[in-house]
Amino acid sequence: ENDILKKLPLKGKKVLITAGPTYEAIDPVRFIGNHSSGKMGYAIAEVASKLGAEVILISGPVSLKLEDDYVKIIRVTSAEEMYRAAHQYFPNCDIAILSAAVADYRPADVSSEKIKKKDDDLVLNLTKTKDILKSLGEIKQKQFLVGFALETQNEEENAKLKLKKKNLDLIVLNSLRDEGAGFQSDTNKVTLISKDNKVLPFPVKAKAEVAKDILDYIIEKTYA
Ligand code: CTP
Ligand code: CA
Repeated sequence: ENDILKKLPLKGKKVLITAGPTYEAIDPVRFIGNHSSGKMGYAIAEVASKLGAEVILISGPVSLKLEDDYVKIIRVTSAEEMYRAAHQYFPNCDIAILSAAVADYRPADVSSEKIKKKDDDLVLNLTKTKDILKSLGEIKQKQFLVGFALETQNEEENAKLKLKKKNLDLIVLNSLRDEGAGFQSDTNKVTLISKDNKVLPFPVKAKAEVAKDILDYIIEKTYA
């Protein structure tokens, strides 16, 4: 039994992951989105599955293919759809890792017809989307809740604030400054910050290895 726990340390655990961007419709043919590739979240899903977890991946629109047949994938488009799917699966999960680059704003009104070009400038009114991670932090019970933070200034300080504000157990700070980090890249550089404000920086690595680092850390924390 000890051997199984070593090789499949997440056996019997349900892991919920969000990944990719969200698209917020402007009209039937246009949207507001971002450059998230989904690679980091997909890597976490695949590694978690290999470590024995039952994985549910809620994915925004990405062009990635999952290499692992055992991962259950729920495809969504908008922040609202991602919110609903996340709340459907969260109560029953043990670990939730929210890596999606959710749009913070969506068009206040979605035009049912394609908006025609006019001589004047076009003004779009945007309204806030729901913060999925924060809403899960509010209802969290036994779950180990992990968020990501993308910062360009006062990185550590802002990440610590997010960790607190969203009631997280761990936040993964993404460094955009470093070479070999970021959205489209196959590598990433992260710093893990835990609830007790311990700061653990990692070097630039392949996203699959970053995924392993994050999951190893969670495994250590949840079994300790
Ligand atoms: N997040 C979420 N739902 C949102 C916005 C963000 O679940 N509507 C999650 C992301 O998946 C990530 C974390 O919150 O795990 C932090 O996202 P980030 O964009 O860095 O922070 P925000 O709280 O949105 O603040 P800001 O963009 O202003 O830095
Ligand atoms: Ca944001």
